[in-house]
Amino acid sequence: MLKVERLGVRYGGITALREVSIEVQQGETVLLVGSNGAGKSSLINAVIGLVPAASGSIRFEGQDLAKLACPARARMGIGYSPEGRRIFRSLSVTENVLSSTLGVPQAKARENLAWMQQVFPLLSERGDQPANQLSGGQQQVVALARAVSTLPKLLLLDEPFLGLAPVWIGRISEAIRELQRRGTTILMTEQMARPALKLADRAYVMRSGEVRRSGTVDEIRELALAEEYL
Ligand SMILES: Nc1ncnc2c1ncn2[C@@H]1O[C@H](COP(=O)(O)OP(=O)(O)OP(=O)(O)O)[C@@H](O)[C@H]1O
Ligand SMILES: [Mg+2]
Repeated sequence: MLKVERLGVRYGGITALREVSIEVQQGETVLLVGSNGAGKSSLINAVIGLVPAASGSIRFEGQDLAKLACPARARMGIGYSPEGRRIFRSLSVTENVLSSTLGVPQAKARENLAWMQQVFPLLSERGDQPANQLSGGQQQVVALARAVSTLPKLLLLDEPFLGLAPVWIGRISEAIRELQRRGTTILMTEQMARPALKLADRAYVMRSGEVRRSGTVDEIRELALAEEYL
């Protein structure tokens, strides 16, 4: 479904990614693990189109994404939840969740919102509240719901567990499992490898802008956990 080949990303003189190749098959959950500055966000951001590829290619369902801007990539079926759950602080919870659904048939967006509200009652209970009144965990739920609101085929989750208490890590994990049951393909990043490894089928270990190893989660668990403590 997603094929990244020999991708390079640079910020001015800084090389953030060097010859990175990864693949995500339909229905899989793939994890990018690696410590601070490994290049995880750069890879996610290159896939959604927030940063340009300096070299290499990114293909989604066989189509080269190079010339497509973010909205076009979203319309193709790529959903994105950014690191640090950047939600619209002054908008209500419901407004946040629906803020990405331009172009999604309204009935579908509503149906999907109802599904999200079932998984996370807080989305309806606090639907009219400004998002900045929510806790970190609740805000992450809003960010996840917004990313899912477009019914993406491929969901990009950049550190969904960052800074969350264990109870929220559990709840978000449950929602991710629910999405997996619905057939959503997921590419996620996490420094907190332990809970993320429980969700993933395969993982890539990244360091200094390169993929150092890849394999099934069982194959790379030890290395990934060592990486977590670097
Ligand atoms: N906007 C930017 N301008 C300049 N350098 C950047 C920018 N964003 C990231 N970098 C650099 O690119 C490299 C990769 O960063 P990136 O954010 O992709 O890593 P990461 O694995 O997501 O790290 P973290 O776990 O901290 O989120 C780092 O050296 C970082 O300092
Ligand atoms: Mg990051």
